[in-house]
Amino acid sequence: MRIEKLSKKQKEVLKFGHSPKYKNYNSIICDGAVRSGKTAIMTIAFIHWAMRYFQNASFAVCGKTINSAERNVIEKIFSLSDITSYFDVEYLSSKHKLVVKRGENKNCFYVFGGKDKSSYSLIQGITLSGVFFDEVALQNENFVYQAIARTLSQKGSKLWFNCNPEHPEHWFYKDWILDANGENKRRSFHLHFLMNDNPILSKEEIEKANSLYSGVFKQRYILGKWVAAQGLVYPMFSKDLITNKTNYFGDYYISIDYGTINPFSAGLWVISGQKAIRLKEFYFDSKKQNRQLTDEEYYNELLRFSEGYSIKSVIVDPSAASFIQTIRRHKFFTVRKANNDVINGIRLTGNLLKSGKILINESCKDIIREFSLYCWDEESKQDAVKKEYDHAMDELRYFCTTVLQFDKEFSGKITGKNSNYFLNEKELNEYY
Ligand SMILES: Nc1ncnc2c1ncn2[C@@H]1O[C@H](COP(=O)(O)OP(=O)(O)OP(=O)(O)O)[C@@H](O)[C@H]1O
Ligand SMILES: [Mg+2]
Repeated sequence: MRIEKLSKKQKEVLKFGHSPKYKNYNSIICDGAVRSGKTAIMTIAFIHWAMRYFQNASFAVCGKTINSAERNVIEKIFSLSDITSYFDVEYLSSKHKLVVKRGENKNCFYVFGGKDKSSYSLIQGITLSGVFFDEVALQNENFVYQAIARTLSQKGSKLWFNCNPEHPEHWFYKDWILDANGENKRRSFHLHFLMNDNPILSKEEIEKANSLYSGVFKQRYILGKWVAAQGLVYPMFSKDLITNKTNYFGDYYISIDYGTINPFSAGLWVISGQKAIRLKEFYFDSKKQNRQLTDEEYYNELLRFSEGYSIKSVIVDPSAASFIQTIRRHKFFTVRKANNDVINGIRLTGNLLKSGKILINESCKDIIREFSLYCWDEESKQDAVKKEYDHAMDELRYFCTTVLQFDKEFSGKITGKNSNYFLNEKELNEYY
């Protein structure tokens, strides 16, 4: 593809490496909304800058993981004629090394993952003339400073950062973005992107994205604000999502949040067309009942709960090792450990609720109660939920992240990047 039209902010990014206007800046930071055109333009600007001012030099391209840097940046490089028509590019995937040439000139770009433990020690060994941090807020702080340290001895080196907003206590926001907007000791040029800074997004696409997110994720991913999560985790849950109908048919699943002292919560779900319906629940609070159940007793409850349904799989809290073992020993249900990535899971679950794809039968009193109580922990310095009223909430999330986002019927035969209800491809890749 060729970038035909650039927004004003994208033009600034292209000029950053060259124009005298920016000669006093060591780094550029583009933060803001999703799909606002940050990665694409920075990729082009970074490669052109590196090729113009350096020869036989080394650079780093850092993503959250090597895998995500390869998907978001390296693959993009091969698809952009704005790069391939100027330079010969070759990617040596076993070495995670991109070689870019034009005539006699050649530079190498090494790919690192800011959250990959292996990358931290590897980056210590090289001298870099520039670093491109894609999604810097998802990378480890020590890794980022280590990578920056590798550039200090190189004349003319520059740092290129982009990210979506996170919690306002995040180190990158405090140390870099606030600094860029204040005293600017780090000499960073800061640009804030919104979706209308990406010239290919239509009004309809922006509106669609707008309607998908709510709460803190809307503030961050659409409005581009560094805000803390406050209030209810699922404010989009409303009585419109409660149904009295039970005549839904399809694939049946049970999701479980295990507890002995804390409540044990199980939901029986059916995926019917493009909706997932919680038909009934089992919620056992040992404190209220004044007795605790053993794993075998819970297993017998599970058998009773599933009577009359052919259960495709049972998704269980990944930390409930002994209960998972108990289910496996009986060789009756297929059991799967749940994906427990809390914040991405909450975002996905919120999107599904917002888009009306999840319905709750009116008999499920405990999940309905928890929806009205499950809150963000506002005292926390990072995204965290209060660890209370979270039992049905957790198994709902397990079901969404472990089953729904991969179910072809549910997602209308579209999964991953093409489906608006799902994590984008970049986020999805983090799960593998
Ligand atoms: N000027 C442009 N012309 C054509 N396509 C563009 C342009 N700018 C961005 N795009 C395309 O729009 C899509 C989103 O852009 P990009 O991935 O750069 O956004 P982003 O801000 O990095 O998003 P995220 O925060 O989700 O990572 C990409 O497919 C990209 O190639
Ligand atoms: Mg990006």
